[in-house]
This record gives sequence, structure tokens and C-alpha cells, in this order.
Amino acid sequence: MKVEASAPSNIALIKYMGKEPGGRNRPANPSLSYTLEHLRSFVTLEKIQELMIDEWLALPGFEPIELSQVGLKKFMEHFMRLKLQWKIPGNYRVQSANNFPADCGLASSASSFAALTLAAYSLAQAHDKNLECTREELSQFSRLGSGSSCRSMFSPWAEWSGEGAEGINVALELEHAVILVDGDRKSVSSSEAHARVNTSLLWPGRPDRAWARLKELKTALSRQDWRSIYDVCWSEFWDMHALFETSKPSFGFMSRGTLDVLDQLRQLWLRDKDGPIVTMDAGANVHLLLRSDQIGRANTWLSGYKTLRSWSE
Ligand code: DP6
Repeated sequence: MKVEASAPSNIALIKYMGKEPGGRNRPANPSLSYTLEHLRSFVTLEKIQELMIDEWLALPGFEPIELSQVGLKKFMEHFMRLKLQWKIPGNYRVQSANNFPADCGLASSASSFAALTLAAYSLAQAHDKNLECTREELSQFSRLGSGSSCRSMFSPWAEWSGEGAEGINVALELEHAVILVDGDRKSVSSSEAHARVNTSLLWPGRPDRAWARLKELKTALSRQDWRSIYDVCWSEFWDMHALFETSKPSFGFMSRGTLDVLDQLRQLWLRDKDGPIVTMDAGANVHLLLRSDQIGRANTWLSGYKTLRSWSE
């Protein structure tokens, strides 16, 4: 038996950074994200009689994939957890891949854990015709593998506080571009970042700041107040990166290239009183969300940069 599933990535505008104690990826504060349908992971699961344990292979036909030992262990442990949850018998060849290059500095954990959860759910349904899970329940299962993947179960907008995410109603469909900037600093995994940020003196106020920004952002989204959306998102990603830089030991992801891009974007806003929504993940790349009427100008802003975009030029 073989099943397949695919799931999109997402970019958080209010960030999940820091976890509640006790494991299981419960976030210290709520997060809100936009789903990136053009950046996807694909997973197939195939039962192999001869296998004594589950195995992982890269799924052919996609971008070559790089999985660290730690990343592979986390991925296969999630599959094991789902097999136990849904009483799926046997051993499987798990194959996965992304439609974006492994070396571009984009984390694939949200899309790959969501795709694995969906693939395992198909398998479970093939074994148990009465099994029905809601999207919210699947989101909770996915969170156990990797927190941010729980938001990839909803599109285009998702909010997550507590056990799992839910879709939220926002009357804004956006385009996305990520400017690929080379990071020249040693990278720290997001799991490590979650563990370290509470050593920062800025940490004690962090959950309150995230809650306050969530409220501001939701108001701005409902009013389609583009400038306020930009302002909240700008301060939110700087807040997360300030936590990184003030942790003990300190770490960070912004390179000269990042600072240069951020400066250009700020100049653009100062000049035009308009521009893209700007945010960053735990990496050197800069993510932009745009209204469809900005696409023509965005092709000019982005010329000369290496990018991945949701639209064709
Ligand atoms: C910076 O979901 O990768 O992207 O739960 O340990 O797997 P784990 O962490 P992960 O953290 C993502 C952090 C972030 C912000 C966000 O997506 O909200």
C-alpha cells in the first residue's frame, strides 16, 4: 500500500518563539501566519514487508534534499508517534522532498511535518474506514512533531495558541516573495533557539508583547490598514531577533546582506509611503508579503536579488 500527501509552508507574522515547559511543543505565546502555497513538501509512505524498521529516502523528481541526523530522527519519531496514535501496523518506506532547494536557507519543517501528518492520516484511514479527524485535530497532532507545522493545516491565514491552530477569516489574499540572502553566521536550529531565548533579559515581557501585537495585527488586518500591518510585523521580527542576540550565549542570523535588504525596504517605505509587509524567520532571508496591485513594482524592487516568488515574472 502506498499513500501520498503534500502540505504548504507558512510564514509567521506573530512568531512562535519559546515553549512552555514540559515538552510537546506548547508555545509560550500565540502566533499568526500566512500559508505559502507555492513552497511545499511532499511525502509518500509505502509498506515494505521485508523492512524490520521504518526507513527514510529522498523522494525522487524534486529538489535534492539535505536532512541532518537530528532532523531525520525528529521526522521519523513523528511518524512513529502517528503510527502509535492511529494503530498503523507494519514498517514503511517514508519518502519526502520539497519543491524548493535545500541550500536556500528556508526551513522545511512546517511543510514537511504537516505533509507527514497528512500522509499518515491517509494511511490510518485506509486501515480504519471509520476514522475521522477534524483539521484542528490534525493540527494538534502535527504540532507534536514540529510546532509551526500545526499552522500549515489551514490556508491562507492561521492562528495558533495552545494545543493547535485554527483557520481565521481575513479578507486579504497576498503574494509572497523571499529574498535569499547568504547567511555567514553559524546557524542555530529553531529548536535550540526556542530553548535559549528564555535566557535573555528581554524574555520576561515577551509573551505579553506577542499578545499585544497579535491584537494590534488582527485589528489592522480587519481594517485592511496596510501601514499598521507593516509596522506590527516589522517590530515583531526585530523583537524575535533581539531575543536571539540577547540570549546567553548570544546568537543571530542577520548578515550584512540582510541588513542591506532591510535598509532598502525601509527607504522604499519612506519614499513611497507604501511597500511590502516585511518579516524574517530564524534565518538570514527576508520574507515579503504583497498585495496583488504591488506585483508590477515588486518586479522592479526585487530585480538583482535571488528570490523565490509566488507569482511568475
Ligand atoms: C522562527 O516549529 O521549527 O519559524 O517546534 O521545535 O520544531 P519546533 O520549532 P519550529 O519553530 C519555528 C520558529 C519560527 C517562528 C514561527 O514559525 O512561528
